[in-house]
Amino acid sequence: MVDRILVTGGTGALGRLVVGRLREQGHDVRVLSRRSGAGTHVGDLRTGEGISEAAAGIDVIVHAASDVRRWGGPDIAHTENLLRVARGVEQLLYVSIVGIDRIPFRYYRNKLACEQRIIDSGVPHTILRATQFHELLGSVLQTVEGWPVAPLPLDFRFQPVAAADVARRIAELVKSGPVGRAPDFGGPEVQTLAQLAEVWRAARQRPRRVFRIPVPGKIGRAFRAGENTCPDHVHDGQTWAQFVASDPANAYRRTARHR
Ligand SMILES: NC(=O)c1ccc[n+]([C@@H]2O[C@H](COP(=O)([O-])OP(=O)(O)OC[C@H]3O[C@@H](n4cnc5c(N)ncnc54)[C@H](OP(=O)(O)O)[C@@H]3O)[C@@H](O)[C@H]2O)c1
Repeated sequence: MVDRILVTGGTGALGRLVVGRLREQGHDVRVLSRRSGAGTHVGDLRTGEGISEAAAGIDVIVHAASDVRRWGGPDIAHTENLLRVARGVEQLLYVSIVGIDRIPFRYYRNKLACEQRIIDSGVPHTILRATQFHELLGSVLQTVEGWPVAPLPLDFRFQPVAAADVARRIAELVKSGPVGRAPDFGGPEVQTLAQLAEVWRAARQRPRRVFRIPVPGKIGRAFRAGENTCPDHVHDGQTWAQFVASDPANAYRRTARHR
């Protein structure tokens, strides 16, 4: 069946892959963006401007917008404004992050509050928590690879996943209908940042030297313990090594083209 689907954040790194997947499945997909010409509908989740028009007659909403640069502070208002126009939809799917209830990181606390708003709203929903994307870790390593010494929290653990694999999972969940909290979604392997950086350096010969920066406190402890991973939910998709071998600089440039 063809659904009319609104994707918030449909111009973002994940969102644009979700839009592509859903269109491949034949759905009628609208893309909300603050920028004229970037999506199909102009709107701002912070002010609420344009979102009733974008959501009119919609069956499903995929909510993948986030204001990462402001630690997700505006995300709570985004979600509240979206919920106001989501009454009557068959499903609202929210993209969240593994471990946000175990790591006292400001961005994660705001995401947890968004999840709670959605749960309390009574709107039929699905919350999918995913681990960090290959593209995100790739962008960090790409940023530091030109530095003489790259300071990194090498003892942090990650279970990175390809944004394309998350997009595929979202498309499946859109098809199957609202499930509440979906099983967490993580990449094929849990590795320390030292191991991930080694794969990167072997492929790209940069950064020449890495240096472990100690991150004190509860946040550092949580990432060292891998609270952001879900080893019981391993998804057998693209590995980090495959991502690195696929010319990740260009892959990231492609996913970040909207910026
Ligand atoms: N990156 C990761 O490793 C990761 C891992 C797990 C889960 N997630 C979650 O996945 C989601 C997508 O992440 P991403 O990295 O793909 O994000 P991203 O590339 O930073 O894109 C952010 C999107 O949010 C939209 N947006 C921001 N403020 C808005 C506003 N006021 N009104 C309307 N749209 C607004 C932007 O649209 P315009 O600029 O076009 O308006 C853009 O499309 C987020 O919820 C994130 O928490 C990310």
